[in-house]
Amino acid sequence: MKILRSCTHPRWFAASAADLQGLLSDHLHCERKAAENALALVRRYPHRGESVTQLGRLAHEETSHVVQVAALLGRRGWTPRADSPNRYARALLEEVRGREPDRLLDALLVAAFIEARSHERLGLLARGFAARGDGELADFYAALGSAEERHAEIFLELAEPLVPPDAFAARLEELGGREAEILGALPHGSRVH
Ligand SMILES: [Fe+2]
Ligand SMILES: [Fe+2]
Repeated sequence: MKILRSCTHPRWFAASAADLQGLLSDHLHCERKAAENALALVRRYPHRGESVTQLGRLAHEETSHVVQVAALLGRRGWTPRADSPNRYARALLEEVRGREPDRLLDALLVAAFIEARSHERLGLLARGFAARGDGELADFYAALGSAEERHAEIFLELAEPLVPPDAFAARLEELGGREAEILGALPHGSRVH
């Protein structure tokens, strides 16, 4: 399912690749936060048996991405820099409503949008680095990007049964518009979002 309502600006790649250590450091923290977010959902909703299994697996896979990004940084002779606030994710999380089942629905949909946007951007990084002749980075981003696409599907599958189909479609539409607006207002930099 294609959920993104906008495409990343063509000039984004050059800005993101300008500081490769910065980009990889931000990417490492994105993977860490994705693992933490999945486990936080397990903490908040332990009674949802099937989703606990899926979220646990997802956290495991995101943690393996942390390891892979750290290894790539190491091969280039770099250590990860400290995390800096992610304005994109923060703005999206502000859209999460307070009452159940809206709270869980929104948390899962926001996670789906972050995964879908990560998939788009890691794909752009894969193609951009391939064009520059950096095969290691191109293969790395292509592999991680396809995992993020699956993650978006998992979050959508977990969210869909929570409310009637028309309410699901309406909220997906609303949050899709908001995601495009938030992303479009952010400056381009050496980070994933
Ligand atoms: Fe990941
Ligand atoms: Fe992911």
